[in-house]
Amino acid sequence: MSENDELIVIRNAALGKVRASSSSADLDAVETEYLGRKGELTLQLRRIGSLAPETRKDFGQAVNDIKNELAEAIEARRSELTAGESEVALAREAVDVTLPGRFYQTGRSHILVETLNKVKNIFIGLGYEMFEAPEVEEYAYNFQALNYPEDHPAIDEQMSFYINDRNLLRTHTTAYQHRVMKGRKPPMRVCTTGKCYRVDAVDATHGHTFHQVDCFTIDKGITMADLKGTMHQFAVEMFGKDVDVRFRPDFFPFVEPGAEVAVTCTICGGSGCNVCKGTGWLELAGAGMIHPNILEGAGIDSEVYTGFAFGFGIERMPMLMHDIGDLRLFMENDLRFLRQF
Ligand code: PHE
Repeated sequence: MSENDELIVIRNAALGKVRASSSSADLDAVETEYLGRKGELTLQLRRIGSLAPETRKDFGQAVNDIKNELAEAIEARRSELTAGESEVALAREAVDVTLPGRFYQTGRSHILVETLNKVKNIFIGLGYEMFEAPEVEEYAYNFQALNYPEDHPAIDEQMSFYINDRNLLRTHTTAYQHRVMKGRKPPMRVCTTGKCYRVDAVDATHGHTFHQVDCFTIDKGITMADLKGTMHQFAVEMFGKDVDVRFRPDFFPFVEPGAEVAVTCTICGGSGCNVCKGTGWLELAGAGMIHPNILEGAGIDSEVYTGFAFGFGIERMPMLMHDIGDLRLFMENDLRFLRQF
């Protein structure tokens, strides 16, 4: 093989490597291999001295031509590759503006909190003051101060969660009454809301934890008519202007007389349906005139002052308004359920 043939072989191999390069680093390697100080083409130039004098010029010219060609090919490939690399980078960073936007879930208040707030606002509108009472309550406030006889079944350990001999988880929000009454002078219009606890086997209509609202009014000349008017006003604001309230006798140790308050069925409007079991009425609250013993126990003269009190469960209201059959759904945190409200 002549010197020029050898050059052709080197050239072809070098150009082949340039084409096969897939990164700038590959190209750097090819450049060093052929054009570097000890590169193959550089070494070819050094051979010149050993060649026949008449061939030297042509040979030198040929090597230089190949060196230039190769250098150009390397540069061309390099710009091809960097263009490719930036294309890749562009593609990676591209935003498809036709895609639908990402939907971020926002939180919302729980249906029970919503109901509580609605109830609170109604009573605030009627002039009631909101009072925060503890959930861990003294046995004395939960029962004794409310005129419970010592042998009342609710006092039984089977019915209440006791913390120790003195304290328990309040079984009703009415436990706050004495706390408020003993430190103030009438007139009073006070309300509390919050969690209550009872030992109960959990099923669709019973839970160990539930929410109540409890309110009372004490002033001179307060009568059952004031209680009825207040309950009616509440029912109208909560359920709509067409509802009526019904009072029936009931017993609670802390009121006399006591009443069970019902409102017109919110589902059928009073004509009778599944929810009201055909009666047209939904039982809503316990209520009554505050027992003189309670007033006297708090240092309020029951000959001068009278008052009424009422209390009811919160869970029952959304259950009745949305026809929810199972109390447990409120506490299970299934978003598919909770997001409906
Ligand atoms: N505390 C009673 C209950 O838990 C409700 C009630 C409150 C009744 C005030 C009368 C007066 O059922």
